[in-house]
Parts: sequence; structure tokens; C-alpha cells
Amino acid sequence: MKREQWGSRTGFILSAVGSAIGLGNIWRFPYMAYENGGGAFLIPYFFALLTAGIPILILEFGIGHKMKGSAPLTFARINKKWEWLGWWQLAISFIISVYYAVIIAWAFNYIGFSFFQGWGAETVKFFTENFLGLTASPLQFGGIRPTIALTVALVWILNFLVLFSGVKKGIELSNKIFMPILFFLLIVLLVRSVTLPGAAKGLELLFKPDFSRILDARVWVAAYGQIFFSLSIAFGIMICYSSYLPEKSDIVNNAFITGFVNCGFSLLSGITVFGIIGFMMHQSGGELPAKLSGVFLAFATLPEAVNQLPVMQTIVGVLFFLSLVCAGMSSEISISETVVSGLMDKFDLSRKKVATGYCLFCGALSLVFTTGSGLLILDIVDHFINNFNIVFSGLIEVILLGWFFNLTRIKDHIHPMSDFTVGPWWNFCIKVLTPVLLGVTAVQNLVGDIRTPYGDYSLTALICLGWGVWAAAIGLGVILSFIQWKTPPFSSHS
Ligand code: ALA
Repeated sequence: MKREQWGSRTGFILSAVGSAIGLGNIWRFPYMAYENGGGAFLIPYFFALLTAGIPILILEFGIGHKMKGSAPLTFARINKKWEWLGWWQLAISFIISVYYAVIIAWAFNYIGFSFFQGWGAETVKFFTENFLGLTASPLQFGGIRPTIALTVALVWILNFLVLFSGVKKGIELSNKIFMPILFFLLIVLLVRSVTLPGAAKGLELLFKPDFSRILDARVWVAAYGQIFFSLSIAFGIMICYSSYLPEKSDIVNNAFITGFVNCGFSLLSGITVFGIIGFMMHQSGGELPAKLSGVFLAFATLPEAVNQLPVMQTIVGVLFFLSLVCAGMSSEISISETVVSGLMDKFDLSRKKVATGYCLFCGALSLVFTTGSGLLILDIVDHFINNFNIVFSGLIEVILLGWFFNLTRIKDHIHPMSDFTVGPWWNFCIKVLTPVLLGVTAVQNLVGDIRTPYGDYSLTALICLGWGVWAAAIGLGVILSFIQWKTPPFSSHS
């Protein structure tokens, strides 16, 4: 089968940026920064961006383009023994695609609520009790919430329509629509936020550094995890997207553009969200909103802020949740495409068949997250996916490619067609700096999580939904790598 291609460089950049900018930027970045030392978090964050994020983006764009395959095919072509890493990354994407769709569905519902501030005066109570029907523990499911389930179906139908239509007519076109809308929404919200009374107080909260946190391994892992999740690296996406680039395509500059646009967007989202929080503090005489972390920031605190706005309540609410939907959909598409392309490569199946099967299967699985314990399950799965799956998959990727593969081969491939070249700093980051720093902090973080189990959850819940899912993802990767390829892929590339 001939590999599909992007229609233009802009189409590729918009799609890569569309994958990178997602819920991670609007929902995760602001609270991660706030929880991990405010301004001091920005030091490990930008360090991780420059020494790991962008170098790995160049690496993934390079190998995906050179090997012309999804992550499993790319790793198999580099070294047959590494195919499992590609499948592990796809397993990670598969799991994320299942719960990510649910958060987009919540945002869809909240667009509706925005028209009449349907969340009422007690936004936390509304979100947890009326909307989610939250149960007391992750293993106490409490039944499916029909409205959420219906909107989850809508997300999967939209996702399906895009995936079914292919790389150029589906993914590229959808990003050409979502991305301009998203940038416009961000600018409108940003201007509204920073012109609210008290906005500066919120920004101080976000940016005021707590340097005592900088030596904490958890802060560093949080920064690396956030960079990896946000740049869509180490879970197969960028390898897959670059495999659709035409023969002569810039790699290095595209990676820098994607990295900087994504992190610029995160900063602006952080400013927008915390400007609004500053306004809330101003209204309440300096009191900090009760819920600033996790999904509560977007789904309880922001609605509360909307309630307090003197004018334009509906518009701000609609635009905010619409921006979550646009950012989320473009990422959800990329996360699912990664798995779809891997299955197409391995089993020589048509896009239409795989997209249909994948969306039906994952749509059904997403229902687990629409039950009363959905938020709790999501919280555990998301924690383990970020701290252990993505971070360790990235760590293994840089060790394998840095030490057991000749990085010069990638440079020789990308330099002739890139707008500019990379120097020895790139090899140093991939081979030494990232493995050492990420390795030390990731292991410390792992030990920390074993000693002090995450959250207030029972050990059974953490084993089933956290450690178990981690082991299952790796196990799935290994098992799939043993299955025969329909068409053996080890041609001239290896
Ligand atoms: N990169 C995507 C995000 O940040 C997955 O949400």
C-alpha cells in the first residue's frame, strides 16, 4: 500500500501543532505549574523543553520520516528487537485516546451549560454530584451517566469521520479548521482575562517562584512528563505524523516551530487561566479559590469565575469550553491515528476497516469513564500514564537510539533537507543529558510512588488501574511484537 502524504508543509505543521496543543496545555499546564513551585517550575519546564522536548521531536520526526512507518514499524525497521517499544507507545496512545475523549465530552456539555450558567452557584457540587454522579471510590462504578455517554459517542463519531477520511482530507483539513479557531479563541480569552480587575494577583500566583521545590525529583518528573505529554512525544504520535511527510521535507525547523508554538500556547493559557483566578481573588477579598488542581480548575473553578463576571458571562464560558473542544479534538485525532496507522502497517488492513473497528472498540471502552467513578479512574490512569508510561518510554527511547544506534545516520538524513542543521549539542542531549537527568528523577519518582502511594486510593484500586495498566501496556507491546507482519517490513531501510 502506498503511504499517504500531507498536502503541504503548513498542513503538516498545523497537524503537529494541533496534536501538541491539547487539553494538556489548557487544562494541565496551569495547575502543574501552580502545584510544582509556580515560577520555579518554569526552570525545569524550559530546561526539559530545550534539552529533551525539542531534541526528541527532531529525533522522532527524523526516524519517522526516514523509516516511513508508524512507531512499531519504524522501531522494527531500525532494529527488529525494538519493535515492542513501538507497540508499547501505541498501547499508551490507545489508553489515552479512551479517557481523553471523555474530557472532551465534558467540555462539550459545559459549552451547553455556559449558555445559561447551568452549573449554578455551587460549581464543585454541580460538577461532582449533579454532572458526574461521583462515587466514593474508583471501583464503585455507580452506573453510566447517559448525557456524558451520548457526548462521548459524539466525540468518537467526529474522530471517526476524520480518521476515515485519511491524512490529507481528514487530519490535515480538520487541523486547518481547528487551529485558526483555537488561536482566535485564545487571544480573545487572554485579552478578556488580563483586563479583569485583580488579574495581576493571579499571575503573581502562577509565576512567583518557590525555589525550595527545585530540588524535588517530583517537580522535575512533572516537568518532563508535561513536556512529553504536551509535545506528543514518546507515545508514537510524532513518529507517525512525520512518516506522512513527502521525500524532501524540513525536519529541524519544523520541530523547533512545533515545540515553541506549543509551549508559547501553554504559557498564554496559563496567563489566561490565572488572570481569571486573580479576578476571583479580587472579588472575594484575596481568598484563593478552593479547587485549583486537576480537572476541577477547568470544570469547577472556571465556571465559578464565569458566574462572577460582570458582563459577557455566556460568551466567555462558551469560548473557553469551545477552546477545550478544539484543542482536545485535534489531539484526540492524532492519538487515535497513531494506533490506527500502526495496525494498518502491521496487518495490511485498509484505513476504513481499522478506523471503524478502533473507534467502535474505544468508544465502548470510554463508557467506563462515563460511570460515577469515571473521574477517579481517570485520575489514577492519567497519573500512571504520565509518570511511568510516557516518561519511561521516552527514557528507553533515548537510551536505545542514543547508545545502540548511530545518531549520525539521522543527522545525515535530515541535514540536506532541513532549513538549518543541528550541532553536537543534539547528540549530547539525546545521549547524555536526558538519559541521566530523566533517569535519576524518574527512578526517584518511582520509588517515591511505591513508598507513598498516589492519592487517597485503596491499594487494590492503584494495583488494578495504575500498576496493572502500566504492566498491561508493556505486556501488550511485547506480545504484539511477536505477531508476524503481514508484509515483512525489513526492506532497504534497515
Ligand atoms: N499533546 C496533547 C496534549 O497536550 C496530548 O493534550
